[in-house]
Amino acid sequence: MKRDVIIACDFASAEATYAFLDLFTEEKPFVKIGMELYYAEGPAIVREIRRRGHPVFLDLKLHDIPNTVEKAMRVLSRLDVQMVNLHAAGTKAMMEAALRGLTREDGTRPILLAVTQLTSTSEERMHDELLIRGSIADCVCHYAWMAKEAGLDGVVCSPLEAGMVKEKCGKEFLTVTPGIRFADGVVGDQVRITTPARAKETGSDFIVVGRPITAAEDPVAAYRQCVKEFRE
Ligand code: C5P
Repeated sequence: MKRDVIIACDFASAEATYAFLDLFTEEKPFVKIGMELYYAEGPAIVREIRRRGHPVFLDLKLHDIPNTVEKAMRVLSRLDVQMVNLHAAGTKAMMEAALRGLTREDGTRPILLAVTQLTSTSEERMHDELLIRGSIADCVCHYAWMAKEAGLDGVVCSPLEAGMVKEKCGKEFLTVTPGIRFADGVVGDQVRITTPARAKETGSDFIVVGRPITAAEDPVAAYRQCVKEFRE
């Protein structure tokens, strides 16, 4: 799969999502469906967005005992999405179980990514609350390496960490990076951000972009600008 822009469809209902996707008459952008929308609308929203021809990243961030995650992944494997994810903190055994569950009888499966440390977790909280020593960067690299050893395809990380992950895990290991803003755009609650052009330079394979596109006056133009900066 080649480098692409994924739109985070962080809407609360199917109506709002379809109204947004209907704006795109010429292209079928890659779409990320997160917990809010999935819990509101269930698997039907995934089937409909796939029926409309969009590639889908189902961002449900599974984290449970290996057996439960394996069975949940088996269910998700029937949804015909392109990408799913889980928390690397669930251990290598959980990631291996997820991979087994996700692999269909014919051997095909969606791309499986691991979330390393959420970008909302500060180093201080990682130390004080999670009792993980060292730097966030060390933790991200270690989790990425565990994910690679478990056979996963890549990680979700900050664009600022993508280069480091590639160095540790190899350039084929995918990095999917949120925290993208246009140079002149509103930052909002994101902290460690970069532009689409810079994300390309640091080695992101996919950028996840939400509000800079969904809240833009002209979302289609904002999407095209992202694609232009990131792919060309
Ligand atoms: O609107 P914005 O561009 O900030 O949206 C980014 C998307 O990426 C949101 O759906 C958010 O939940 C997700 N995300 C993130 N940071 C992570 C993992 C996911 O911003 N570490």
